[in-house]
Amino acid sequence: MRNEFCGQVTEKYLDQQVEVCGWVGNRRDHGGVIFIDLRDHTGLLQVVVEPDNETAFAIAESARYEYCLRVTGTVRNRPEGQNNDKLATGQIEVVVDEYQVLNPSKPLPFMLDEHPGENIRLQYRYLDLRRDNMQHNMRLRSKLIHALRQHLHQQDFLDIETPVLTKATPEGARDFLVPSRMNPGQFYAMPQSPQLFKQLLMMSGMDRYYQIARCFRDEDLRADRQPEFTQLDIEMAFVEQEDVLNMAENLIRDTFKAVSDIELAQPFPRMTYAEAMRRYGSDKPDLRIDLELVDVAEAVKDSDFKVFSAPANDPQGRVAVLKVPQGGANFTRKQIDEYEPYARRFGARGLAWIKVNDKAAGKEGLQSPIVKFLSDDALSGILAATGAENGDLLFFGAGKYHEVSQFMGALRLKVGQDIGQVSDTWQPLWVVDFPMFEYNDDEDRWDALHHPFTAPTGTADALKNNPGEALSKGYDMVMNGVELGGGSIRIHDQQMQSTVLELLGISAQQAQEKFGFLLEALQFGCPPHGGIAFGIDRMAALLCGEESIREVIAFPKTASGHCPLTAAPSPIDAAQLAEVHVQVIAPETDD
Ligand code: AMO
Ligand code: AMP
Repeated sequence: MRNEFCGQVTEKYLDQQVEVCGWVGNRRDHGGVIFIDLRDHTGLLQVVVEPDNETAFAIAESARYEYCLRVTGTVRNRPEGQNNDKLATGQIEVVVDEYQVLNPSKPLPFMLDEHPGENIRLQYRYLDLRRDNMQHNMRLRSKLIHALRQHLHQQDFLDIETPVLTKATPEGARDFLVPSRMNPGQFYAMPQSPQLFKQLLMMSGMDRYYQIARCFRDEDLRADRQPEFTQLDIEMAFVEQEDVLNMAENLIRDTFKAVSDIELAQPFPRMTYAEAMRRYGSDKPDLRIDLELVDVAEAVKDSDFKVFSAPANDPQGRVAVLKVPQGGANFTRKQIDEYEPYARRFGARGLAWIKVNDKAAGKEGLQSPIVKFLSDDALSGILAATGAENGDLLFFGAGKYHEVSQFMGALRLKVGQDIGQVSDTWQPLWVVDFPMFEYNDDEDRWDALHHPFTAPTGTADALKNNPGEALSKGYDMVMNGVELGGGSIRIHDQQMQSTVLELLGISAQQAQEKFGFLLEALQFGCPPHGGIAFGIDRMAALLCGEESIREVIAFPKTASGHCPLTAAPSPIDAAQLAEVHVQVIAPETDD
């Protein structure tokens, strides 16, 4: 139907005839001459219809926004002064010889250059995807996946598919379940990741595996989470942590270069989990922001101000300062006060602060609602620890170690953005030496920090004696504060695997029911192995400069898990439910 794309009709076609197809963007009627911006995925082309071509003119007059057209025409220079240097096609225009409406269009629910709400965008996603930005994102995502595959293929990784109808793989979320018609009362679980299958593939002698895998997790959604999302899942046999980190780093460095010409550091810096929490209050620190937390427990532990001294004397406690340099003290009272509700959203119970106006003037030179509670020694200890200078503003977080880290880490990001301290760079980072477990206070038991198949650094005895102190061979790759991927060296010893499951409060019988196949497989000469999985959606969003992964997924779900386009999820009729032996118990509502 066409012999060239709209965006590629340039001066090289002068005086020649071209055949192009596309959609009507802008349409201007200039006293008898009609101008149409015809658009396809490559760009815009100015099409001119002159009144002496009566047939074409009649059609052009009736053409409306987003009509789908085929145009045959002759390329000529634009009249003097009408060039558009922003367009590749900006020097020329196409004078229509023949003109065909392939399909008219109803008026669109929104103009493509408008910003309607997300629901309407997703309901008409096929139109939303016509926008330049979405075209760019989808094409970049495709290029990204291609580059990842190419690199792995060259490194002898096998692309192997694993089941979607399967048994639960615990990654910390709820499962999506699928009832089995042929087995009444029984359910498949959709995979939260291909974790156990990829480990089994190493036991099968596949040596190196990868998969662009769809994963399903029923959890509360956020900008960087979807109920179904895509991982680049990778596993290698006969490797240690160093091998996997090197492989993964080379993969990402190559890919960022190939896709967006980004040069990443070589090697990526590394940081332990403990250091990341201490300096940045986060296990995925954004190193583009040059602000750090400083612990001041030592300075305030003898203070009468209980808000500080209690956590300062508690081994599980923390008193941390975020110093806002360079005129932070110019923040108005109102600006400062606005950070407290922000910190509260991340678990803070308050956010004390001190403005350093004049260090030399002692207490008089410090402005703050809390200086009156603090001794001169405490104050000079705080100033020394933070290296505060005149003009700096200090925010204080006090409480349990993890709570303080969490809200001070969030505050660090917010303040960094507000004072324009986010450098325009790419900052990859490996976070290593994660704790093996974290305590789940709500359920009064240990949870695996990565997943239960992650190998500890020490022995089974060490693990049992002190689960809270044990470290794992788990690692996360972080880029500009986004957790791009995570993985680990796996447990390949059946005894060790049983020990870990036991520590997680899974009885031998439950372990047999849930993971019996894995425990058995571990007994047939399982090689040491390890791997990693990257969030493709997050990687694409980063490379596209998008805040939300919904902008890089063709048909995503809303924050409440709906698809406004297909209206999924939706009720199923009684007959179909009966077929799969399922009865619905509707939650009680007021009416
Ligand atoms: P993990 O649970 O860390 O590890 O997931 C790996 C990566 O997948 C991305 N990700 C998500 N992206 C979008 N929406 C979600 N709901 C979502 N959840 C996770 C993140 C994350 O870093 N089996 C292990 C990997 C392994 O050990 O090899 C796993 O799934 O970018
Ligand atoms: P209060 O004595 O509770 O009125 O608190 C005095 C000051 O300390 C106020 O500025 C509070 O915002 C701040 N504050 C209270 N609790 C905390 C906390 N856990 N961490 C940091 N600052 C706090």
